[in-house]
Amino acid sequence: MDSIVVTGGAELSGQIPIAGAKNACLTLMPATLLSEEPLTLTNAPRLSDIATMTALLRSLGAEVTGLQEGRVLSMSSHALDNHVADYDIVRKMRASILVLGPLLARDGHAIVSLPGGCAIGARPVDLHLTALEALGAELDLRDGYVHAKAPGGLKGGRVTFSKVSVGATENVLMAATLARGTTVIENAAREPEIADLARCLRRMGAQIDGEGTGTITVEGVERLSGATHPVVPDRIELGTYMLAPAICGGSVECLGGRIELIAAFCERLEAAGISVEETERGLRVSRGNGRARAVDVTTEPFPGFPTDLQAQMMALLCTAEGTSTLHETIFENRFMHAPELIRMGARIEVSGGTAVVHGVERLKGAPVMATDLRASVSLILAGLAAEGDTVVNRVYHLDRGYEQVEDKLGAVGARVERITER
Ligand code: EPZ
Repeated sequence: MDSIVVTGGAELSGQIPIAGAKNACLTLMPATLLSEEPLTLTNAPRLSDIATMTALLRSLGAEVTGLQEGRVLSMSSHALDNHVADYDIVRKMRASILVLGPLLARDGHAIVSLPGGCAIGARPVDLHLTALEALGAELDLRDGYVHAKAPGGLKGGRVTFSKVSVGATENVLMAATLARGTTVIENAAREPEIADLARCLRRMGAQIDGEGTGTITVEGVERLSGATHPVVPDRIELGTYMLAPAICGGSVECLGGRIELIAAFCERLEAAGISVEETERGLRVSRGNGRARAVDVTTEPFPGFPTDLQAQMMALLCTAEGTSTLHETIFENRFMHAPELIRMGARIEVSGGTAVVHGVERLKGAPVMATDLRASVSLILAGLAAEGDTVVNRVYHLDRGYEQVEDKLGAVGARVERITER
């Protein structure tokens, strides 16, 4: 298992290119199942999660090419020969559940393994299932799999989510494009990745209104055609790299970043005394001398502060001047980075969904353990300003969501090295 060594103390300057969004690509890829014509994604990120989704689509009989060469993923599912999404693949990546809606809409049947929980929470899929039942799906849960049928095809219906869910909104949105009649999705998630999915589906011929608001309306169509679609920039990678100069000083321009993707995060960053400036090519983040100021953060569904940036923001607040309070409202166990930051000298008290961070002058490098994707990158960020070396172990978590993190940070002056275990 690889580890990454971060030597703290360097001020940063230069540019970091932001890749296409992992969480957009993971829902755009299953959309290929909705059409027998090719779907091509450009600006696709090169990540292990994308490779896992590629393996899943190929296991269903879809053709997927391009993952290695560039950032273009060409997919075609003109002839599916399997409608079972196996536990072996699904357990590696929860987003695999996103093939359920498209398979049901296209061929009226699917057997998809339940994803199971993960480090940050139980991660149920009940909202996905009840939403598809509202479109006429007949679901039978047994042996850890969802056995789904839609004899005669899906019918448009009204879906009212009791809780905002990104994945469930994506699953039912994709299914609704081929359902007979009108579907109205209420209390829909509003994340930019959902708007990106809607744009792609519209390019394929879907009739969708309201994405980005809480109510999405879909008029089902007979069939969808192929399309070519650029993946939206990754707002979580963007926010992560914006925090690097905020934590260790300097000025970095994140190429491709757009304020509207993470306005709530930018507001908190500026409240902490960090300057965020829109440039021709992206967002420039600078911190002069002195420490950031303590701020309070509450994670919320979009357009609120993203839960996927909570761990990274905590890394900044560990050395801010004053005491900050972070409320994690989306997942039940998303403070696993806290004990590792404490090993580096941070002063953090966690109680339930609340973490109180008392800023200290400086952290000290230490060997730490990555536990999940965003926790692992928060430890790297903390290491950038720490005294001495920080060794982050189990970085396979990191490679799920960040392309060459050591190269991107190294290019702006950070001392970050990957140690590959033979
Ligand atoms: C997506 O997960 C993202 N993953 C997550 O990013 C992100 O943290 C999350 O949305 C919230 O923004 C992808 O897009 C692949 P949810 P998802 O359904 O769709 C509960 C990362 O680091 N819930 O919006 O699984 C759930 O337990 C990952 O890139 C149900 O109760 O999240 C959670 O408490 C981590 N029943 C809340 O809703 C359901 O059927 C929000 O989950 C579904 C969800």
